[in-house]
Amino acid sequence: MVRAVQDWLLGHHTGHMSLAGHDWSVVTWGLVKNGEVTREFELRPGEPSDIGDSDDDLARARRFRDVLGWYASGVTVVTADPGSHPVGLTCQTFSSVSLEPPLVSFMPARTSRSLPIIRDAGHFCVNILAADQQAIAQVFASKGADKFNGLGWAPGVTGAPVLDGAIGRVDCTVHSIHEAGDHFIVVGNVKDLAITREAEPLIYFRGTFR
Ligand SMILES: Cc1cc2nc3c(=O)[nH]c(=O)nc-3n(C[C@H](O)[C@H](O)[C@H](O)COP(=O)(O)O)c2cc1C
Repeated sequence: MVRAVQDWLLGHHTGHMSLAGHDWSVVTWGLVKNGEVTREFELRPGEPSDIGDSDDDLARARRFRDVLGWYASGVTVVTADPGSHPVGLTCQTFSSVSLEPPLVSFMPARTSRSLPIIRDAGHFCVNILAADQQAIAQVFASKGADKFNGLGWAPGVTGAPVLDGAIGRVDCTVHSIHEAGDHFIVVGNVKDLAITREAEPLIYFRGTFR
C-alpha cells in the first residue's frame, strides 16, 4: 500500500489559451507512475461562473437542472482531430438548425477541453450513439486524456473521427461559434451525413441513461 502511494506522483504545468476574446489560465495535471505520465487532466481554476453560493442561487440552479432534465434527448459524441490527437466529448445539446444551407449545432461548456481543439481543427463530427454505447458516452463525458483508447474509428470527410457502432454521423466544418452564458453555441456546415446502423438510440433523461 505504501509502495503504491509512492509510485503515484502528481506533476503539472500551467499555460494560457485564448478563446472568444478571453484569456484562460490552463493547468494540466498528469498522473505519473514510474516516471511516465499515465493519465492527464486539465483544471481551469478561476473560470467565471454565474452561480452564486447563496441558498437562493443554489436553489435556482437546482430548479433549472430539475425542470430541464425532464426534456429527454438523444446522446452524441462530438469529435475532432487536428491531426495530432483525436478529441471528443459526450453531448446532448446537438440539434438541427437549418435545412438550406444545412446547419446543425451543439453547445459545449466553457470548461470543455475539446472546444478549442474543435475550433482550431475547423471541423467536428456528431456521432449519434446507440443504446448499447452507454460505456462510450461515459468515457467521452470524462476528463481522461485518451478517450479513444480501444475504440474503433476512422476519419470522416472532414477528418473528424467517425466512431464504429454509432447509429449515424453528421460531419461538419465549423460555421460559427457564439458565446452564450457559461456555454458556447457551435454551428456547423454539414458536409456529410449518414445512418450506418438502424439501432435503438441511447436516451438521456433526468440525469440517467435509458
Ligand atoms: C449524457 C451527457 C450529455 C452531455 N452533454 C453535454 C453538452 O451538451 N455540452 C457539454 O459541454 N457537456 C456535456 N456533457 C458533459 C461533457 O461530456 C463532459 O464535461 C466532458 O468531460 C467534456 O469533455 P472535454 O472537456 O474533454 O471536452 C454531457 C455529459 C453527459 C453524460
